[in-house]
Amino acid sequence: MSNPFREELVSQARSEVCTVVILGATGDLTHRKLVPALYNLAAEGELPPGVKIVGMARRDWSDEYFRDSLESINREVSRSGHCEELWGEFRECVSYHCSEFQDAEGYRKLSERLDEIDRERGGAGNRLFYIASAPGFFDDILEHLGKAGLNAERAGYWSRVIVEKPFGTDLPSARHLNRIVNATFQERDTYRIDHYLGKETAQNLMVLRFANAIFEPIWNSRSIDSVQITCAEHFGMEGGRGGYYDKAGALRDMVQNHLLQLLSLVAMEPPTDLSADGVRDEKVKVLRSLRQWETPELVAANTVRAQYTAGHVNGKPVVGYREEDRVDPESMTEAYVALRVMVDTWRWSGVPFYVRMGKRLPKKATEISVHFKDAPGVLFSALPGRVPGGNVLVIRIQPDEGISLRIISKLPGASLRMEPVKMDFHYASSFGKSSPEAYERLLLDAMAGDATLFARRDEVEEAWKFIDHLERGWHATETPPKMAEYAAGSWGPVESDALMASEGRTWRRL
Ligand code: BG6
Repeated sequence: MSNPFREELVSQARSEVCTVVILGATGDLTHRKLVPALYNLAAEGELPPGVKIVGMARRDWSDEYFRDSLESINREVSRSGHCEELWGEFRECVSYHCSEFQDAEGYRKLSERLDEIDRERGGAGNRLFYIASAPGFFDDILEHLGKAGLNAERAGYWSRVIVEKPFGTDLPSARHLNRIVNATFQERDTYRIDHYLGKETAQNLMVLRFANAIFEPIWNSRSIDSVQITCAEHFGMEGGRGGYYDKAGALRDMVQNHLLQLLSLVAMEPPTDLSADGVRDEKVKVLRSLRQWETPELVAANTVRAQYTAGHVNGKPVVGYREEDRVDPESMTEAYVALRVMVDTWRWSGVPFYVRMGKRLPKKATEISVHFKDAPGVLFSALPGRVPGGNVLVIRIQPDEGISLRIISKLPGASLRMEPVKMDFHYASSFGKSSPEAYERLLLDAMAGDATLFARRDEVEEAWKFIDHLERGWHATETPPKMAEYAAGSWGPVESDALMASEGRTWRRL
């Protein structure tokens, strides 16, 4: 099915011939996400013609070695499969530039190389720098791009930067990074990536809310009892991730960015228009309205932190969090977090948003569920048997992207018995094809100059304010709130169920 918005985006991007420079090109992100995304755009005919890709990193690789290394992973992960002929053409657009990230000379040579590419293309071209290195190099890279003049707009050709996460580790470090980014690139040329915003169903949230007139009148505390946002992952610390993760934890790794972005999309007011600032103005208001619990005791009462112990996931035995590779055996970092979040706005007064994220849960799934208040019991409460609870709108972000609505229905037969049933929409069957990967959309957006699905400076900082406040609450008392435990492969700690039960609610089973 053709999508006019995507066609417009593609045609805008196609008019912007550019070179994509990936800094940190030998890493996993480049191999597993960025290059397969660019390849898939090419496969769909959506990659602007003349695009060149230059990977820069410290390893002493040749162009050929880099291309081969990308090819072997693309074969494994590419969404549309791997076509030899297409890859043959694609790989010719890819080259490698070896340099230390702190080496001024390396950036000077990079600049020469980019000029050469521009000349081969018959004139100057646009440049998109993607900082995909380890976060410790972000400052150096930005500073050197600036010193080499690679940040400058030239004769009508733009220079933009995409900065990967984590964007800081707390508010002061995020502000510091923002200062460096903005000293080098203009805010309108800065794209702070949050790949959850590129997921089809996350994008569909705005369409669902604002293109369907039935939802807006009931999208508030009069009709909605509560909202749940769950991100479950079955994996643990594979691939050496423990080193990074043990310093970050579930709250910083996923709630600060992905889950608060989803929450903002659910809770925001209708924007005045669909411009990047129109949408981001409304999201940032939500982040500013998140309640900061007044005391450490209240922080503790509204949050649960936990680590997994040894257990079984998908039938296989796995170790506990503290036994994972590169994790401190006495670690006090959470691999699971559950929060009760209040959005203190008129629309959401009194409606809790329950947010949870955990590693080593039974499966990988992310969903948002909007739980509506029960219908008044006047008609059916006198009947024998239980009246099933209310309506639930479920937005499945992944996998099996789609939307379902739980409604109460009469069971066929002479007696008046009720059962919940589900109206279900699946992307794959309705649109007949798999959704593009988030990075495909986001790379295309950055080429087309559309920052709507990227976080603005103030959004990132507001999100950190909220997260830092929780972290401070956890560490404010001499005896910080207990680290709860759950067996790997289970749905999290009992404390998390208790957080819900204390208000008469339960987590939705995914
Ligand atoms: C990353 C986190 O940002 O998102 C990871 O650092 C997490 O810990 C990943 O696993 C999840 O992304 P996705 O798209 O697989 O849900």
